[in-house]
Amino acid sequence: MKPILTGAVALVVVAASWSCLRAQQPKPPKNITADTPLPDRYAYAVKDILKYCQPKKGFWIDLGAGKGQVAIPLIEATSNPVTMLDPDVEAMSKGLEIAREKKLEHRLFAVVGVAEDMPLPDNSVDLVVCRGSIFFWDDQVKGLQEVYRVLRPGGKAMIGGGLGSGYPRWAAKEFLRRRLERLDEDDPEKKKHFVKVRSPETFRRWAEDAKLPNFEISGKGGLSVEDPKAGLGIWLRFTKQHK
Ligand SMILES: C[S@@+](CC[C@H](N)C(=O)[O-])C[C@H]1O[C@@H](n2cnc3c(N)ncnc32)[C@H](O)[C@@H]1O
Repeated sequence: MKPILTGAVALVVVAASWSCLRAQQPKPPKNITADTPLPDRYAYAVKDILKYCQPKKGFWIDLGAGKGQVAIPLIEATSNPVTMLDPDVEAMSKGLEIAREKKLEHRLFAVVGVAEDMPLPDNSVDLVVCRGSIFFWDDQVKGLQEVYRVLRPGGKAMIGGGLGSGYPRWAAKEFLRRRLERLDEDDPEKKKHFVKVRSPETFRRWAEDAKLPNFEISGKGGLSVEDPKAGLGIWLRFTKQHK
């Protein structure tokens, strides 16, 4: 009798947690049009970063940070300070302003620089996150070597792009539809390039050419639909080895 009861209780718990999880997801609107606002994707990307990197608190860098779209929700989720590193001074200034409005100015910092030549000491960084940027670097191999150089032994990096694995399906589908529509209107060469730089093959080549001693690639690319680890998109993750 006992095992049946235990099984029934477990079933109730699983069902309750499932409905609770579903309740957290924003409900899809009834009629989705090209103007329907989509849920903010950065919080979902941050969830994945924390889930897959489980970073140690410490010195965290958001590489190619832009306006701190990842850095700010990352601080909000963890309270750990984050330093943005990007060549775009204007974008980072905007990020600093946003952080000030949110009273996070003591936790967000900015360094002007590029991935290929980071103004940071060797073995100093506990976490490098980099979303939506590697595709635009001049030299991805040099950039990845730099990320490896600045990481502390045991430090983690998560580099790529995507919506986050928990991003609501309806919104992911609509996001993809809009992106494809834009790409189809564009020059076909641009679309080819877009797909190529976001492919697992290209990511693997960059990581191998950078001689990263260990790495994992998840996701099928910028236009992929399903990947429990990556959501829409593609990610490269690695950990700096201890000597
Ligand atoms: C599409 S934005 C991504 C911004 C933000 N991380 C996000 O997820 O929305 C790309 C960013 O990469 C930066 N970037 C371009 N070349 C770079 C390089 N060589 N090293 C570091 N960042 C670079 C750009 O200045 C820009 O802020």
